Amino acid sequence: MTRLTKVRGQANRGEVRRLWLAERDLFREHLLRLDPLTRQQRFGTAVNDAFLENYATTTFGVGGLVYAYIEDGVVRGAAELRGLDDIVAQTGEAAFSVETDWRRSGIGGELFGRLITAARNRGIRTLYMTCLPQNAAMRRLAQKYAADLVGGYADVEGVIATGGPTPFTILDEALDNAQGFATLALSLQKAFWPSRFLARALRA
Ligand SMILES: CC(C)(COP(=O)(O)OP(=O)(O)OC[C@H]1O[C@@H](n2cnc3c(N)ncnc32)[C@H](O)[C@@H]1OP(=O)(O)O)[C@@H](O)C(=O)NCCC(=O)NCCS
Repeated sequence: MTRLTKVRGQANRGEVRRLWLAERDLFREHLLRLDPLTRQQRFGTAVNDAFLENYATTTFGVGGLVYAYIEDGVVRGAAELRGLDDIVAQTGEAAFSVETDWRRSGIGGELFGRLITAARNRGIRTLYMTCLPQNAAMRRLAQKYAADLVGGYADVEGVIATGGPTPFTILDEALDNAQGFATLALSLQKAFWPSRFLARALRA
């Protein structure tokens, strides 16, 4: 289900949806575009391109789920849910990154909402999020989702009680995934079938 957010007061052209394994490169390119400060805020320390390349490769393995804000086929924001690899996972870890020019337009909030729904549907009752103490944006965003923030010298941990799954949360995610998967299938079809072949095949 495409839910439009707002970018600087205008209807946003992009969509927030789950990112699939076949779209890993979009996630990798998003991470590589992050500037040094954002990388530090996202990972808690300075990280180089090689680290991000490797991170993007391993994120889509067992136990990881990625939602993204995609505009014109480019990922401009991402949220990751990690920790699903335990047989019965009750806790998960959330992390967010939105490219600077796309901030303050509701994307982080929308990604947060999707992650909470996904966590609920997987039986995760507690979601953890860690950020640097000076990261006012992430702290405020987490507070909007009723996170209990526990402050330390080096970092701040946010704990969010997600609640259990309901028929609505399950339907919400199912519709979301169905639409996201259809979009992916279409873009793969376009990539593999140049438009003139596609047009000819459709006419046949
Ligand atoms: C934190 C981050 C994901 C927020 O993304 P965003 O798309 O700008 O967030 P939204 O536009 O949805 O903002 C939601 C709320 O967060 C808070 N917020 C966002 N940016 C803020 C800022 N610069 N200062 C204070 N509060 C801020 C506000 O409460 C805002 O609600 P409002 O606009 O109604 O006031 C983004 O700033 C980011 O990617 N930062 C770098 C990476 C990072 O810090 N990750 C966190 C560690 S995992």
